[in-house]
Formats: sequence, C-alpha cells, structure tokens
Amino acid sequence: MFGKRAVSESKPAPARAVERVHAMDSMPPVVAAKPGTLSAAVPPPASQPFAADNRSEDYYQIKATIFSALIDTIDLAQLAQLDPDSAREEIRDIVNEIISIKAVVMSIAEQEQLLQDICNDVLGYGPLEPLLARDDISDIMVNGASRVFIEVSGKVQLTNVRFRDNAQLMNICQRIVSQVGRRVDESSPICDARLLDGSRVNVIAPPLALDGPTLTIRKFKKDKLKLSDLVRFNSISEAGARILGVIGRCRCNILISGGTGSGKTTLLNCLTAYIDVDERVITCEDAAELQLQQPHVVRLETRPPNLEGQGSINMRDLVRNCLRMRPERIIVGEVRGPEAFDLLQAMNTGHDGSMGTLHANSPREALGRLESMITMGGFSLPTKTIREMIVGSIDVIVQAERLRDGSRRITQITEVVGSEGDVIITQDLMTFQMQGEDDQGRIKGRHEGTGIVRPKFWERAAYFGLERELSEALDALQV
Ligand SMILES: Nc1ncnc2c1ncn2[C@@H]1O[C@H](COP(=O)(O)OP(=O)(O)OP(=O)(O)O)[C@@H](O)[C@H]1O
Ligand SMILES: [Mg+2]
Repeated sequence: MFGKRAVSESKPAPARAVERVHAMDSMPPVVAAKPGTLSAAVPPPASQPFAADNRSEDYYQIKATIFSALIDTIDLAQLAQLDPDSAREEIRDIVNEIISIKAVVMSIAEQEQLLQDICNDVLGYGPLEPLLARDDISDIMVNGASRVFIEVSGKVQLTNVRFRDNAQLMNICQRIVSQVGRRVDESSPICDARLLDGSRVNVIAPPLALDGPTLTIRKFKKDKLKLSDLVRFNSISEAGARILGVIGRCRCNILISGGTGSGKTTLLNCLTAYIDVDERVITCEDAAELQLQQPHVVRLETRPPNLEGQGSINMRDLVRNCLRMRPERIIVGEVRGPEAFDLLQAMNTGHDGSMGTLHANSPREALGRLESMITMGGFSLPTKTIREMIVGSIDVIVQAERLRDGSRRITQITEVVGSEGDVIITQDLMTFQMQGEDDQGRIKGRHEGTGIVRPKFWERAAYFGLERELSEALDALQV
C-alpha cells in the first residue's frame, strides 16, 4: 500500500508513506513562491501561443522538491497497477499532503498546475504532455533536457518546457518506444516509433547525440487537411486545386516533391481523396501517417531490424510484395531508395494512379533523384533506359515548399511530357510567383498558369470524362 489514501483505508495503518510524511515534518519548508509567480503556469488554452506558459524558476524548484518527496513516498510498482484515474487520485492526495506539510504557499490554480505536471511526469510523457495536447503544434523537437522547440504555424520557436534532466528525458523516450515494442539505449541509440495517437517519433540517444537524448515528434493531425483547406490557407489557388483534382481522378501517376516538412505527406493524403471507392489501394510507409477514406485499403509498414540486426523489412520488400497483392494503386509514403525502381515498374505496368513523395527542391531535381536512387540501388541499367522508364511512368510532379515566412505552398505542377535523346522534357502547368511581402513579413504571391491549354494527360482526362473540367480549370489559372 502506498500514499495517504492507502494508509487511511488499510488497518492497521502505519505504512511507509506515513513514516515518510512525518519525516518530512522536520524538513525546512520549501521557500514559498512569490505571490503570482506560479499563477501564470496554468496550462494555456489550446489555441493560445506558447508565451502563455510562464513556469518560473521557482516553480521548477518547488516541483522538484515535491516530486522527490513524492517518489520517496509512493510505491511506483503498485501505482502502475492502478487505472489512470485512481493513480491520479492517489498522487493528488499525497501531493496535497506534501504541500501542506512543507507549507508551500500556492493558490488553488497553481496547485492544480503542479498536480497536473507531476501526474504527467509519473503517468504520462511528462513535460511533453501539454505540448502533445495542443493541436496547433505540428512538430516537437527536444534537444536534450533543457531545450524544447515547437513548430507552430510554420515557425519554429523555443519553449520554456524542460525536463528534470537527461535521465528523465531518456526515460520518457523509452516509455514512448516501448509502447510499440521497441527499445532505445546506448547499444541501440536510434529508434523510430509512433505514439498511440499515430504521431511519428524519432529518438537518437547518446553517445550519438552529443547533447543528450534528442526526440523529434511529427504530431498527428486528427483532422487531416483537405485540398479545400489548402485553398483556404492560400497554399494553392482554387483553379490549381481543381487541376490537382483532375490529375487525381484520371489516375495520373504522381510524384510529390518537396523539402523536409514542406507538406508532402499532407498533399499526398489530399490527393488520395480522389481515389474511387471501389479501387484496391495499397499503401507502404515507414511510419503509417496516411489516412485514406476508401474502404478497400491495405496499409503496410516497414520494420527495422531487431537487436540482433535481423528481421528488417524495408520499403523495397513492401513495394515488391505489393505487386503480388493485386493492387490497383500503390502509394509509397516516401521514396528514398531502390524501391524507386519497383514503384516505377508498377506505374509502368498497369497500376495507374500510383503516387509517392520524395525529398527534392524542384521537379527537375526530383527526376534526378529518382535516377540516382535507381543507379545507387545497384541496377546496372544505362542512363537512357532509366530515363525512358521515368518518362514512361511519371505523369505529374507536384512541388511543395515551406517558404521563409513558414507558409507552405504548392509551387509547381509539372508534367513529364517525353524525352529528346536522353533528356527528359517537362512542362509546368502552374507555378507560384512571389510578389514580395506584406507588412507582417508574410509572403505574397499568385499561382499562375503557364498558358498550356492541352496538357499531355488531356487524352487520359477525356477518357475519364474530365476534359471539360480540366479545360475550365486551366482557363481559370490564366486569369
Ligand atoms: N498547406 C499547408 N498549410 C498549413 N500547414 C500544412 C500544410 N501542409 C502541411 N501542413 C502541416 O505541416 C506539417 C508537416 O506536413 P507533412 O507531414 O505533410 O510534411 P512532409 O513534407 O511530409 O514532412 P517530412 O519531410 O518530415 O515527411 C504538418 O503538421 C501538416 O499538418
Ligand atoms: Mg512526410
């Protein structure tokens, strides 16, 4: 038994907790917080900027003292057996008692905040919890115990969230990865995992990370952005979005290119909305992020090697296996290695409407990267053959970019039209033209058509009865 409640409920009483609590009587009281220093520490409402979190130095000191008194008092093994609500109750009782014994002056709100933080430390992901609870954060980046950055509205900012020390941070990393059956420690210091809510997690620990465990979380958005949201955010114009709609519906093979965090996966997810409900779709990802709405979807995920270095299943294994699963469309979350070859082959052999994303800064660079992935994958094919294969498979490249003001835009829709000799010919259908900045530093610009009235996929669009829609969207782009 542990804690005050356990004590009062069990007879005869004298349990470890009580002895400890009495022992604390003789300790000097914690320095009382200056009135008002803690009151600002109430968790910020989800939509407010993080500046609302003003946990002060005093707060952290008080919390550390109360926390260590709590840890001395409770039996963590028994606490772990309780359901979360009862465990919280238990912690609440003991913390309240410690606060009163140590004569810490706190308002009710401050006390609630402290309780919340301590419960998060003991039962959840500690200081990460308030960040995980916020929907406006897209990334959380923890560089050792005392530097936690977040990305909000495309801007990276330093928070004053911090962990007690690197040991606590490492402990939380362990807690996260162990939930999906993985392990991270000095002997296997790199680990990819997922939170239960689907957020993508990467941990790299010392000795590889020199300044303490480094944790990166791409927060899972419950309400995935739709193409209409991207139009609302000015990421793309309405006419541009209509063109993307036609491209998706008429089963063009699409490559989404962009830098890190530029919105590639989000865009891919948007485009999957145009897949018919009766199509059999297979998705291959390193960490499942896509959320397809269709009923006939098979989701596959790669697997890292186990501790003996065995059992790994990579993206190429998945894509090759896909081909034996009678897919109509194959969707590869991120193409980054020799699976490029298998994806192109699939696109070439009747799996129209397949899609993938790739890291590159322009459509041309994306083509170059595809080629080098195939070359480096050990396929000894002449350059010309590889390029022919690319031309025969990829119909459209959509470029996503995160601009310097933090906004994400679709900056190009480019078609692969053919080749001359061994040079791949492409043409832009839409580009984003920057027109300067407004007075708040936000980039202004326009999505413009390039005057193409009959793209190469015209016939395809016509086959699906979409030529009118395409022609209207292209006209709208020129306006
Ligand atoms: N057009 C957009 N407007 C606003 N936010 C966006 C937009 N596109 C994506 N985001 C947000 O940006 C974050 C990163 O998006 P996403 O995961 O799609 O990027 P990515 O390019 O796939 O990143 P990575 O290279 O890490 O895989 C997400 O939180 C997403 O919700
Ligand atoms: Mg991605």
